[in-house]
Amino acid sequence: MNVLRLRGFEIHKAYLDPQAQRGLIEALRPVLKAAPLFSPTVPGGGKMSVRMTSAGAFGWTADENGYRYAENHPRGFDWPEIPDQILTLWHDLTGLERLPDCCLLNYYGQDAKMGLHQDKDEADFSYPVVSISLGDDGMFRVGGTTRGGKTDALWLNSGDVVVMGGDARLSYHGVDRIRFQSSRLLPKGGRINLTLRVVT
Ligand code: SIN
Ligand code: MN
Repeated sequence: MNVLRLRGFEIHKAYLDPQAQRGLIEALRPVLKAAPLFSPTVPGGGKMSVRMTSAGAFGWTADENGYRYAENHPRGFDWPEIPDQILTLWHDLTGLERLPDCCLLNYYGQDAKMGLHQDKDEADFSYPVVSISLGDDGMFRVGGTTRGGKTDALWLNSGDVVVMGGDARLSYHGVDRIRFQSSRLLPKGGRINLTLRVVT
């Protein structure tokens, strides 16, 4: 297993082998059934190109009033529990006893992307955010902790896991584009990214 560093982000290349990736997709099926993907409306009235849902005590949502953690899906459902193998992955990788209370699932279709942003709505930035990539390749862009500086990018492939922690916990990051149908993990193509967060 190969660990790269990009501006303080730890990139564990091929952390999950193909069998583990398929196992995670199976574990996500009931999550997607209980809490279907939705396209958040964002401040300004547009729709995000990414579709999302969550598992855990908190889920990430957005509407005209802004982005926030919420205790329920926009259609009123409780968020399902975070699958055990995802919690195990967090524990193995971070060594932390404190488990994440949000697993955000972002689905990127052919033309989806995510603008540069910071993850800064959590209570304690000493906990990392752990990000798992499944399915199609995504070009991940990383900057520093202020907007507008230099950025670097690299392709994340299915099975890669990124730890955003330490001095880079508040670094800007985003996804420029997807190489649609570059992977066969998801029969219809696309990329799933899971981010594990300690919210409270
Ligand atoms: C995110 O920042 O929430 C997603 C990052 C990614 O899709 O790799
Ligand atoms: Mn983020």
